[in-house]
Amino acid sequence: MSADVPAPDAAGLRERIDTTKAHPARVYDVFLGGKDNYPADREAAAAALAANPRAYLTVRHNRDFMRRAVTLAAKEGVRQFLDIGTGLPTQRNVHQIAQSVAPDARVVYVDNDPVVLVHAQALLTSGPEGRTDYVEADLREPVRILDAARRTLDFGRPVALVLAAVLHFIEDEVAYPVVTRLVDALAPGSLLVLSNVGSDLNPEQVGTITKAFKERGFAMVRRSHAQVARFVTDNGLELLEPGVVPVHRWRPEPVVDLAESADPDPEFVAGLDELDRTRYRGINAVTDADVSVYGVVARKV
Ligand SMILES: C[S@@+](CC[C@H](N)C(=O)[O-])C[C@H]1O[C@@H](n2cnc3c(N)ncnc32)[C@H](O)[C@@H]1O
Repeated sequence: MSADVPAPDAAGLRERIDTTKAHPARVYDVFLGGKDNYPADREAAAAALAANPRAYLTVRHNRDFMRRAVTLAAKEGVRQFLDIGTGLPTQRNVHQIAQSVAPDARVVYVDNDPVVLVHAQALLTSGPEGRTDYVEADLREPVRILDAARRTLDFGRPVALVLAAVLHFIEDEVAYPVVTRLVDALAPGSLLVLSNVGSDLNPEQVGTITKAFKERGFAMVRRSHAQVARFVTDNGLELLEPGVVPVHRWRPEPVVDLAESADPDPEFVAGLDELDRTRYRGINAVTDADVSVYGVVARKV
C-alpha cells in the first residue's frame, strides 16, 4: 500500500454517501457480482434487465475489454497506469491485471465516488515490487489528477491512461478537452484505453436503459462511433487494431468467468431472483445485440 494514502474519514464519508439514489459504480457492481450496492442500485439494475435481459453482458464484456487492454499494455512494456473512474474493487482490478504480467507496475486509481473511496483501502494492495495509490477526484479536474498522480507515476515515461466506462458520465464540452489535457501530459509510447456507451449500438434498448438510469439518479452521454473515434483523432493518436469496435470485438479471447459461474449448484441458482442469477451465467456466448459499449486503444507516438 502507498504510504501517501490518507485513511478515509469514515464518518465524513458516510455522510456524503446517498444510498437513496442509484449510482453508476454501484449499479455496475451489481452486474459484476459485487456486494457493495444498495437497494436503489439493485432496483436500477433490475430496470436495465427488464429492458434487456442480457444487459449484464455489456458490463461484464466492458470489464473484460479493460482486462485485455491492460494486459496488452503491460506486455508491450508499459509499467505505469492511471485508471480514472476505477469503480468498486472487483475480482480483477487494474493493479492485479498489470502486476500479473509486470510485478513492478504502478497504478494510480481515481474516482469521485465516496463509496469507492471507502473500499480503496482494500483495493490498494499492491504486490511488494509495485505500487498503488488512490486519488479522490473528479475527471473534470485533470490538472488536480495529474498533480496527485505525479506522487506515484513518472510522466517522462509511458503511462496507460485507462478511461473505461467513465466518459459517458461527462458532457461533450468537458469530455473532449479533458481527454486532450490528460493525453498532452503523457510521454510517447503511452496508451489510451477508453470505452463509452454507443448511441448507435442497439439504440432502442440502450435508450430505455439510459432513461431508466436517469429517472433513478444519473445521466449517460451515449456517443456514436465517430464521436468515440474523435477522442483518438483529435489528439493525433495512433489507433491500434481493430480500431473503435463494440468491446466484445476488441481482440476477443475466451472470457474467464466470475468465480461464482465456475460450478454453480443448479438448484441454488434456480432459487435466486433474475438479478442474482446473472452472476452465475457465463458470458462467452455473446452477440452484437448484447453489447452496447465501444472500446478503443490508441498509442501516443
Ligand atoms: C461504470 S463504472 C466503470 C468502472 C471501471 N472503469 C470499469 O470499466 O470496469 C464508472 C466509474 O466512474 C466513476 N465516475 C463517474 N463520473 C466520474 C467523474 N466525473 N470523475 C471520476 N469518476 C467518475 C464512477 O464513480 C464509477 O466508479
